[in-house]
Amino acid sequence: MSNSYRIAAVPGDGIGHEIVPAGLKVLEKVAEKFNFTTQIDNFGFGAGHYKKHGVFMPENGLQELKAYDAILFGAVGLPDVDDTLPAKDYTFRVRTHFEQYVNYRPVRNWKGVKRPLRDETPFDFIVVRENTEGEFVQVGSQVRPDSVNGMGVDTSIFTRAGIERIAHYAFRLAGTRRKHVTTVTKSNTLINSLTYWDRVIGEVSEQYPDIEHRYMYIDATSANFVLRPWIFDVVLTTNLFGDILSDLGGALMGSLGLGGSGNINPEKEFPSMFEPIHGSAPDIAGQGISNPVGMFWSVALMLDHLGEHQAAKAIMDATDLALEQGFLPIDIGGKTGTDELAEKVVSNIK
Ligand code: NAI
Ligand code: MG
Repeated sequence: MSNSYRIAAVPGDGIGHEIVPAGLKVLEKVAEKFNFTTQIDNFGFGAGHYKKHGVFMPENGLQELKAYDAILFGAVGLPDVDDTLPAKDYTFRVRTHFEQYVNYRPVRNWKGVKRPLRDETPFDFIVVRENTEGEFVQVGSQVRPDSVNGMGVDTSIFTRAGIERIAHYAFRLAGTRRKHVTTVTKSNTLINSLTYWDRVIGEVSEQYPDIEHRYMYIDATSANFVLRPWIFDVVLTTNLFGDILSDLGGALMGSLGLGGSGNINPEKEFPSMFEPIHGSAPDIAGQGISNPVGMFWSVALMLDHLGEHQAAKAIMDATDLALEQGFLPIDIGGKTGTDELAEKVVSNIK
């Protein structure tokens, strides 16, 4: 009997409604070729849902999603909706509730895509971003915000359990790759939270003697992303630093539209959620010109997570080929529309 997967599709807002259907077309094609079946259900969660119903997802939304093998997500957020809500009421809720503590964000050069760096040395690394705590716990308050004595406080929280589990993931991952972990830190100034981060990761690293490990400050890491991106293999970062570095990674590739990602619960006790690294791009939404490559990569990461490795590789090969053949979306200097690129990738999967 062939394997069957239940996938919850959450397009969200803006270009999510263009790239998720494009990703599903590619998914359908590899399912047929590699002999597995998918049951896709669509969920209308997001800022659009909020405008109609006053909430980003209904009260039982998480319970509904829990029944699925994976979630394929576009992005949430609209210009006329309070932009503190999309992460708080959708993305972070899903990530924390489903213990998706790994945010897996690969970065590599794409053949056929012009990138901003003059140096053409290839690079291929993975940003492993801690995804459930750190700077994004949203614990804090504003005091007298309207007064001249007003203040705002956000507290970062780093727990031993949270650091250990992401560190183990990063070191194991490095073991399957070039055996090198760079821990991103700023413990010279964040002397409580990030010295603890460094210390716990240092303890974990001792359990992986065959993996090379170094610390690098976030400021220097940013410079090295641009100057020497090929020195990285696995980049282990906090939630905020990883958020910023992965957009820089997108820029290194040539566009934010090229980056895929997975919010992963490695134990598979809960569904994992796969989404491109970018947002809802309201400035280009509705024109059919958004770049779906980050979504195709996210579908491939989802299939890898589900164990359909051949199908995942077929999507990446077909996407590589389409870009090499010159089917480039507008953000990377071409004219190919979202659907046209999806069709090209589908036709490249022989
Ligand atoms: P953004 O990533 O949506 O857009 C930044 C720039 O990159 C824009 O000029 C956009 O046109 C371009 N871009 C992004 N993806 C593209 C694609 N696939 N093809 C071509 N061009 C692309 O970030 P921005 O503008 O800061 O945020 C817009 C909204 O998205 C906000 O409401 C924000 O909160 C939300 N957002 C949601 C995320 C999520 O749901 N995971 C992540 C990041 C932002
Ligand atoms: Mg981001």
